[in-house]
Amino acid sequence: MSLHDEIQRRRTFAIIAHPDAGKTTLTEKLLLFGGAIHVAGAVKSNKIKKSATSDWMEIEKQRGISVATSVMGFDYKNYKINILDTPGHQDFAEDTYRTLTAVDSVVIAVDVAKGVEPQTRKLMEVCRMRNTPVIIFVNKLDRDGKNPFDLLDELEEELKINVRPLSWPVNGGQNLKGVYNIFEQKLDLYTPSKQTVSESIEFTDINNPDLEKYIGEQDATQLREDMELINGVYDEFDPASYLAGKLAPVFFGSALHNFGVKELLDCFVQIAPSPRPTQTVERVVQPDENAFSGFIFKIHANMDPNHRSCIAFVKICSGKFERNVNYKHVRLNKMMKFSSPTAFMAQKKETVDEAYAGDIIGLPDNGGTFKIGDTLTSGENLHFKGIPSFSPEMFKYIENADPMKSKQLEKGINQLMDEGVAQLFINQFNGRKIIGTVGQLQFEVIQYRLEHEYNATCRWEAISLYKACWIESDDRSELENFKKRKFQYMAVDKDGRDVFLADSGYVLQMAQTDFPKINFHFSSEF
Ligand code: G4P
Repeated sequence: MSLHDEIQRRRTFAIIAHPDAGKTTLTEKLLLFGGAIHVAGAVKSNKIKKSATSDWMEIEKQRGISVATSVMGFDYKNYKINILDTPGHQDFAEDTYRTLTAVDSVVIAVDVAKGVEPQTRKLMEVCRMRNTPVIIFVNKLDRDGKNPFDLLDELEEELKINVRPLSWPVNGGQNLKGVYNIFEQKLDLYTPSKQTVSESIEFTDINNPDLEKYIGEQDATQLREDMELINGVYDEFDPASYLAGKLAPVFFGSALHNFGVKELLDCFVQIAPSPRPTQTVERVVQPDENAFSGFIFKIHANMDPNHRSCIAFVKICSGKFERNVNYKHVRLNKMMKFSSPTAFMAQKKETVDEAYAGDIIGLPDNGGTFKIGDTLTSGENLHFKGIPSFSPEMFKYIENADPMKSKQLEKGINQLMDEGVAQLFINQFNGRKIIGTVGQLQFEVIQYRLEHEYNATCRWEAISLYKACWIESDDRSELENFKKRKFQYMAVDKDGRDVFLADSGYVLQMAQTDFPKINFHFSSEF
């Protein structure tokens, strides 16, 4: 197969959802259809069980499981599908944001009863920033839920994207009869089963009186009315708007009961994008360029204290990657070859000889060779853009608890930050180091790893901060003036950029009003 064809057949995406909406179940069902697994229950949830939230070693064990399921590749029809897993626990949201930089599209799972939940809203913001095409799967149709029209309105409003149903439920909850597959004009009848796939019947004309035979008079009338309303309210599905990230097709189903999932997958492979061009500082990289290029979007550390090893995950942006071929590590300006790159097929990690744009490969890294955002190429100096850090939500001063080990502490902190565990800010006023995270768990993770991997001990001290935001301005004197006025609250990030530490929402708002020429950014990429 030509390079172009190999790349065109790839579909690399992530499923995102608020915990419990059904991401793990849906992933598993997609793998079942792809023949990648043969029994339900094979995919372990990487969701951190509620009871274990304070025991983060338990969480690490679960994260250990999740490295195997970090990427799940399988073939379906003529397509090569790569599903990128995202952590279920919101304290690892930053990992999810980064994973979203490596996908070409997204499926959002929403619980029919709960509708849009906080985590969904947040993740959708990231998709919107990147114009990532999204498909919405409304799950748990076998349970009583919201009225589908109300739900569509909620999706539009809360996720700030136009929607277009491509399937439609026939009744719901206990009375669920099926879904009408608008995309393929089929009637899929519901058989509540966790193992078998539902039957679907060609049904191009819903005015055909046979409809009553299948779903009864009342539901047939309702479906006809609903379809009329849908066709009146919503424009025809426009694939170009979907690809531009402006329109989300919506499917309905029940992942647990294997219902509506195949319909989703069949439509997905047809409409979802193959690998998209990637923006670098220097130029736009097309996926089917011959030369290889890729970037590191995730680093997964093995927690075994005797054996510090990491896997750096590379999204291939162009060309073909080959084992034992020299590639340039652009930041280090060094040629390197990799003898044991791994790819992820089904749930197995295996050494591969080659991989193509759209694929994810894992490179073993035992010496801190890679940082998040690093670029590998066939030789060109490229720097991929688009791996933002978001303004953290929790802050603590980090102090050295063992004066004999300050070098170890310094090294540990730097490496953990390169891995993207948390963000480091240095207060310009007192020189103290502040660690910013999205969740409480990261503080525990950092402390534990410093001790066990770097032989360093740290102590946390409380700091009351509301937000850290990156600031810049075209007006140099205004910027200097601001920094002078706020000198106690100024910090730099690990790349030396100016960061304003606002101790309350009010202070931030006042600063924005008083200094209109200063731009305040809530993500590191602007
Ligand atoms: P997550 O990864 O998004 O957190 O969700 P997950 O798939 O683990 O699903 C959360 C719960 O919802 C699970 O139940 C799962 O069985 C259930 N579920 C998923 N899809 C459906 C569906 O279509 N219908 C119904 N009724 N339930 C669904 P649990 O009790 O938390 O776990 P388990 O003991 O069943 O594994």
